[in-house]
Amino acid sequence: MSNHDRDARDRRSSRLARLFLLIGGVLLVLTLLSFWLGSILAQKQSTPQASALDPALVPLVTGTEPIPEIFTRAGCSACHTIPGIPGAEGRVGPKLVLGSTGPLRLGDPAYRGQAKTVHEYVIESILSPGAYMVPGFPAQAMPRWYGQKLSAGALEKMAAYLESLADEQQPDNR
Ligand code: HEC
Repeated sequence: MSNHDRDARDRRSSRLARLFLLIGGVLLVLTLLSFWLGSILAQKQSTPQASALDPALVPLVTGTEPIPEIFTRAGCSACHTIPGIPGAEGRVGPKLVLGSTGPLRLGDPAYRGQAKTVHEYVIESILSPGAYMVPGFPAQAMPRWYGQKLSAGALEKMAAYLESLADEQQPDNR
């Protein structure tokens, strides 16, 4: 074999090696990129839903159930502490003691809702959570679809129960 032939072969194989290196590098970058994108997408999907409730998991509540069941079936317990309801110890939303807090909400100069009574305020809070945001709590957490899950009777019973609850730690109750 002549020197010339060997040189040509060497050059060809080093070109081939560089090509393989390049392909390997591109594949590596693509793999890393897809991992990175995947983790970003997974985060996007899980963060806002972390405390949210899947409407498909919430059955219709007719209002004929016992009171605790009305709240637990609807999933309120996952986010709210409700005195007298077993297992209702959620911390995402405010403790539901509307006998104490209801009048404060209606008297808040920032209140822009339609409710005139605490009873109406409770129903409004459930059907259109955007009407008033309790300060200090996440704005988008409370589900917006309860109107499709709760009968008028269930809403009435919830409102009647919640407005009867007062926080014993309120100074005016001592
Ligand atoms: C995924 C969490 C979540 C679920 C489930 C949920 N809530 Fe809420 N709720 C919140 C948050 C957060 C707030 C406070 C922010 C706001 O005003 O929207 C709130 C506010 C309220 C208020 C106003 C309380 C106040 O002190 O003024 C009422 C009443 C209420 N929820 C009732 C219910 C009832 C009844 C259910 C079940 C049918 C329920 N919520 C289900 C998160 C939730």
